[in-house]
Amino acid sequence: MDLSAAMAPRPTSARERIIVALDVSSEIEARRVIGDLEGIAGAFKVGMHLFTAAGPNLVRDLTSSGHRIFLDLKFHDIPNTVAKAGIAAAELGVWMFNVHAAGGGEMMSRCISEVSEYCERNSSAKPLIIGVTVLTSSNDETLSEIGIVGPPAKQVVRLAGLAAAAGLDGVVASPREVGMIRAAIKDPAFLTVTPGIRATSATNDDQKRVTTIGEAFANGSDYVVIGRPILEAADRGAALKALIADAEALQ
Ligand code: C5P
Repeated sequence: MDLSAAMAPRPTSARERIIVALDVSSEIEARRVIGDLEGIAGAFKVGMHLFTAAGPNLVRDLTSSGHRIFLDLKFHDIPNTVAKAGIAAAELGVWMFNVHAAGGGEMMSRCISEVSEYCERNSSAKPLIIGVTVLTSSNDETLSEIGIVGPPAKQVVRLAGLAAAAGLDGVVASPREVGMIRAAIKDPAFLTVTPGIRATSATNDDQKRVTTIGEAFANGSDYVVIGRPILEAADRGAALKALIADAEALQ
């Protein structure tokens, strides 16, 4: 039986396509956000902030109670370590996790093969494994600081190609780069997950390559990741419902 999550149909409803980032400091706060968005959010993201504060038991508890969890720990290490971390993520029952594509082809392909083997052995669904290209908080200057010459888009397309060749299920990029990724990678099943979503009138915070949710979906993003625009709203449920309505109006 093929239990690969990658074989799941592409997301269609706006609700399914919005991943809410649980960027908070404790389990109590995370549960408050989840409570505010119960029945409205399609998936939640646990990143390094909450994971470091609250640990894997919270993730296991959320997946066991039926929540779709994107574990955003951006693994980047030697191939063996990343593969073993990937297996640990699969053991937690997460729906999606990510690795840095800059870790290279061997790191990505070893992670996929060891996680796939683990899931087959245990008859469990393989998490979607997504490659981080260039963070949405980076621009030309950020890249030049670390010795990468040229605009972020060039590096994004290069890393997306590497991730696709290694067999990853998709990439994280800015919604501005989805068109270029789709043009470069012909596989229609290759997913794009895009943070950097802002209302046009809102602050960008530390994000530099941003769009609105409507632009992201119009550009072909499969999933958008949204944190502060929902977390910092006076009424989080209303903020998420308004984003869903904006996206639905364009579908
Ligand atoms: O608050 P905001 O909507 O900017 O949150 C975006 C979320 O997406 C954060 O949790 C951030 O860590 C995450 N992220 C990102 N850029 C990436 C990968 C993940 O902003 N390339």
